[in-house]
Amino acid sequence: MQPITIERIGNGASASDVRGLAQLLVDAVESGAGVSFLAGLTESEAEAWWRPVLSSSSERAVILIARDAEGVIGTVQLQPSWAPNQPHRADVAKLIVHRRARRRGVARALMYSLEEAARAAGFTLLLLDTCKGYDAERLYVSMGWVRVGEVPGFALNPDGTLCDTVFYYKQLGS
Ligand SMILES: CC(C)(COP(=O)(O)OP(=O)(O)OC[C@H]1O[C@@H](n2cnc3c(N)ncnc32)[C@H](O)[C@@H]1OP(=O)(O)O)[C@@H](O)C(=O)NCCC(=O)NCCS
Repeated sequence: MQPITIERIGNGASASDVRGLAQLLVDAVESGAGVSFLAGLTESEAEAWWRPVLSSSSERAVILIARDAEGVIGTVQLQPSWAPNQPHRADVAKLIVHRRARRRGVARALMYSLEEAARAAGFTLLLLDTCKGYDAERLYVSMGWVRVGEVPGFALNPDGTLCDTVFYYKQLGS
């Protein structure tokens, strides 16, 4: 198995990392995953989405990228609440592993690293949501995330069908 590295990226992300992240997003959409976009997303549209995320996110945001010898294979991000009365809270978003690298523990490693970074930055409450029945749900439950409930028809799958969305939270101990 190829060694995997996980690192934090942001404003100074290289053009090849932006391309790798865009390819991840396109691959996830093509795999049918509900990651905000509909079928037909192009690599250049995906790059246009990533650039401001990388350059304009809050200073407390954490964006992680996982790589193997062939390039970018995964990502996840922590987006702090904007609200002044929620300095302790952040959302976890865009957990994606490329189809060529799935089932090797990359998502689990990304989530551990993200939770560690969140804890170190003083966050004590994390939230996320995912389409009901996705593989990711098993991962979240196995890592101690607590299911809040579900909202029917919250978002569209890439093919335009409705997806029920499940909300989870996790309190981080010290
Ligand atoms: C969900 C996703 C991130 C998992 O990535 P991954 O690197 O393959 O996951 P891991 O190998 O770290 O597996 C972690 C756990 O997730 C669950 N899981 C992941 N893929 C699974 C599958 N195909 N079938 C069943 N369980 C699965 C298992 O519980 C697994 O633990 P185990 O290997 O000990 O059984 C990846 O499939 C993906 O990018 N999907 C498309 C985007 C997406 O749905 N993101 C989540 C949006 S909230």
